[in-house]
Parts: sequence; C-alpha cells; structure tokens
Amino acid sequence: MDSPADAVESLRTLKHAGVLIDRRVAALHAKALAPIIEGRPVLQLDADENLKTLMGVQQACTWLQEFNATRQSTLIAIGGGIIQDVATVASHLYYRGLKWHYLPTTLLGMSDSCIGAKGTINLNAYKNQLGAFHSPAHVYICKSFLETLAPRDIASGYGEILKLHFIGSAERLNEVIAAVDRDGLVNPQLPALIHNSLVVKQRVIEIDEYEKDLRRILNYGHTFGHALESVTHNQIPHGLGVAWGMDLINFISWKRGLLAQEYFQRVHDFIARSLPFRLDRAVSGSEVLDASRRDKKVADGHANLILAHAPGDLRVTKTPMDQLLESQITEYVNHYNVYYS
Ligand SMILES: NC(=O)c1ccc[n+]([C@@H]2O[C@H](COP(=O)([O-])OP(=O)(O)OC[C@H]3O[C@@H](n4cnc5c(N)ncnc54)[C@H](O)[C@@H]3O)[C@@H](O)[C@H]2O)c1
Ligand SMILES: [Zn+2]
Repeated sequence: MDSPADAVESLRTLKHAGVLIDRRVAALHAKALAPIIEGRPVLQLDADENLKTLMGVQQACTWLQEFNATRQSTLIAIGGGIIQDVATVASHLYYRGLKWHYLPTTLLGMSDSCIGAKGTINLNAYKNQLGAFHSPAHVYICKSFLETLAPRDIASGYGEILKLHFIGSAERLNEVIAAVDRDGLVNPQLPALIHNSLVVKQRVIEIDEYEKDLRRILNYGHTFGHALESVTHNQIPHGLGVAWGMDLINFISWKRGLLAQEYFQRVHDFIARSLPFRLDRAVSGSEVLDASRRDKKVADGHANLILAHAPGDLRVTKTPMDQLLESQITEYVNHYNVYYS
C-alpha cells in the first residue's frame, strides 16, 4: 500500500489496542497516522540500540500494564527494526503472548525484518543476545514512510536487500545492482526489490521457521557485521554492518577457493560506490574476531560461518577461529575494508 491511510480501515476496528511508535515517525507522519493513533494509549520511544534491551522491553510492558492491556488487547507497532524488536519481545512476554500488528517505517523493516517472527534484544555490550519468535498478526507495508527516511537509513536497508538478493540467485543480484546503478538508491524498482527480498526470505522460512538448519543462511554477513556493530559501539547502522560483513565473508570465501573472485569484486565495488559509510577509525582483525566470539553461531572455538560459493549457494560451514581466519580478516581490513581506507 502507498500510505498509512490504506491501513486505517483494518486498524481502526481493533478493540483495546495501544500504539507503540518511534517518536520521530510520530512527529514526521502525525497527520497520516492520526486516525490510527487518536483515542488510543500511545507510547512514543526513541529508536536507538539502547532501547533494544531488557529496560526497553520493561518500559513497553509497564505501559501495557498501565493501560490494563488484557490477552484480548492488541499492540500496534509503528517504526523500524528497533521498535519491531522491542514490540516482538514485549508482546511475546506479556501474559505469555499478546496479538500485535506491525507497520514498518524503514526500508530495512519493509524488506527484511517484518517477516520471520524474530525479535531480539541486546545484552550488555553485545548485539542480539536474547530473543523470541512471535509473529505479528498483520504487516502493512506503506511506501510513503520511505519519503522521510534519511539517506543513511535507506543505504542501511539496502544492506539487507543486497544480502537477500545474493541469497536468491545471480539474476536477483544483477537486478539490485542494475537498478541502483541506473537510478540510484531511491529508484522506480524499489517496490519490486522489497517484494523480491521478502519472497527470498519467505522461501527460506517456510522450509525452516525455527532456524534448525536452512534458515541459518539468512545470517549471511551477520557474524562479522554484528562484530563490527559491537566494536564501533553501534556507530555503523545494522544494514551497513551486514554489507561490510558480507563483503568480508565473500573475501574469505574467495581466498578459500570457494567463491569466484568476480563475485567478490562485483559486490565489493557495488558496496563501495553505492552504500557509503566511513568508520572514524580503523578496526583490527583481532578486534573483529574477538567480538565475533559472542555470536550465537560460535561454539568450541569454531564459528558456523555462512560461506558463499556463488549467489544462490550459501553454505553453513564449521570453521576454526584460528590464525588463518584472523590473518584473512586482517588482510581484508588492511587492504579491502570498504568503510575505512
Ligand atoms: N527482528 C529481525 O528480524 C531483524 C532483522 C534485521 C534487523 N533487525 C534489527 O533492526 C534494527 C535496525 O532497524 P532499522 O534499520 O529498521 O532502523 P531503526 O529502527 O534503528 O531506525 C533507524 C532510524 O530511522 C528513524 N526512522 C524510522 N522510520 C523513519 C521514517 N519513516 N522517517 C524518518 N526516520 C525514520 C528512527 O527514528 C531511527 O533514527 C537493528 O537493531 C537490527 O538488529 C531485526
Ligand atoms: Zn540483519
């Protein structure tokens, strides 16, 4: 749908609903959202990584309790991935499960996080350590929210779009690169790119909803992406961390003889020219490797890395976190680092 007005009809009918909303979105889209918000309990929150914590979830649950939400109530969440993660965990915990509806307002929310049911929060300095599966009853994708999104957050959404198109196939990868090269990040193909990203993700989730096996490939780019987010204290937005993590894992895959250099180079050049970001200091290979030890996919000195063999061919590979891995990460950060040179 184009604007939130298209969602009003079905959202208005929800009984005893409260609205948990990103404060910035509430201000920027006040008029369009008024029919959804007016007359309902509202909790406005600042979307930053500090909100994605037990404290943030407690704040949301306290608000539910204060407006006497019951198991028949509904939570309407409006915002990006951060608001979504808090809403997922809070509605999963409150009375052991509250129904919720979601209006994603970021490109990342629309093209990736809005499906899949996952909600994860940070613990101490580490990303996504706690979480739950709890699907929204409905998701409403309203493209007009993108009109106010900062270029940095558009680029961040593309990190996940690029990831899903690479997981899809070589043709999908070509489509995203061609669309952006032709018309920039905000281009007429964007609705199709969002749709195709969700189709790729849906295909994986339908086979393995609870991440027993295949779904792990959706974490492509995330082991080192999350490590970079931790090392930079979340200076880098999530999707750009994922783009960096993809580039690094593609580099490792190429160096290990798994991925053709041509694919590494194409994706590397695309990220460098179209998804810009600048780290304010160089990170070291050992720092990145150390931070990645906290990843959920790490155990017994081994990481389950999602290595790329080709677009459309990702394989979970148990990999020792050894000298070889550290030297490959170091080679990447010293000579190929897209976000610091
Ligand atoms: N649960 C999942 O499956 C999943 C998947 C991917 C990412 N994530 C998480 O999502 C988070 C990142 O989410 P995100 O990139 O959507 O961003 P976000 O929620 O952090 O929002 C980014 C910024 O954009 C602002 N904003 C949101 N919508 C806007 C709009 N329409 N106009 C103007 N400004 C707007 C926010 O206030 C914030 O400053 C990370 O914490 C990541 O770990 C979760
Ligand atoms: Zn992600």
